[in-house]
Amino acid sequence: MELSAKLAQTLEVLQQVAAEFSPAVFANSYGAEDMVLMDLIARHKLAIAVFSLDTGRLPAETYALMEETARKYPDTPVQVYFPNTAATEQYVNTHGINGFYQSIELRKSCCHVRKIEPLQRALKNKKAWVTGLRRQQSPTRTDLGFREFDAGNGLEKFNPLIEWTEKEVWAYIKENGVPYNALHDQHYPSIGCAPCTRAIAMGEDVRAGRWWWEDPENKECGLHVKR
Ligand code: ADX
Ligand code: SF4
Repeated sequence: MELSAKLAQTLEVLQQVAAEFSPAVFANSYGAEDMVLMDLIARHKLAIAVFSLDTGRLPAETYALMEETARKYPDTPVQVYFPNTAATEQYVNTHGINGFYQSIELRKSCCHVRKIEPLQRALKNKKAWVTGLRRQQSPTRTDLGFREFDAGNGLEKFNPLIEWTEKEVWAYIKENGVPYNALHDQHYPSIGCAPCTRAIAMGEDVRAGRWWWEDPENKECGLHVKR
């Protein structure tokens, strides 16, 4: 399918979400895919509120992009959610600031404190949420569709870019002058928290730089795990 046809389909999904699933929210991680959705939501003035989970461990480049995004889309503000203070202090004081390298269990509990619990707050009382997931990103994402019921969080989940390729994401960004994370130009196709993200080598999978010490079949932070 041509990019223009995919774009029309994506816009249709977003318009349906805005019209039929109010209040709906879009989870913006400031990755390349999410910047495409941010641009579409702002450009078409869609009634989808935008939020981001600031784990407190994001790379400086992501914070710079947050500021650039706020300047570029002043009418589409991004609501930021922080981790719970007491839970974060407890984690760090028990396991250390980088305790997540010690075991998969400690990695998952850090993601729980810094992302999952804030996500649950962001999704509370919403009818649907929108993500920038693409099928090609990971073996854990190959059977995803445009729409699925998120049973764990109890609301509809929409993935409007599910069929886009990485190349198409970049074609849209370049064509429309969409701001993007400077790390993408330094071999970081997928960006999360600074200590859990690294650059990839030629030929490596796009998510190879995320939690690189874990098994690719299972590495998800829990935001998108089916429960
Ligand atoms: S993750 O599960 O490995 O962290 P990934 O970085 O691929 O996810 O992002 C997939 C989608 O999850 C994004 O398109 C976005 O919708 C949502 N997401 C991930 N991280 C965040 C974040 N920090 N804030 C808001 N949404 C996020
Ligand atoms: Fe913690 Fe790393 Fe998960 Fe970020 S990605 S929440 S630093 S374990």
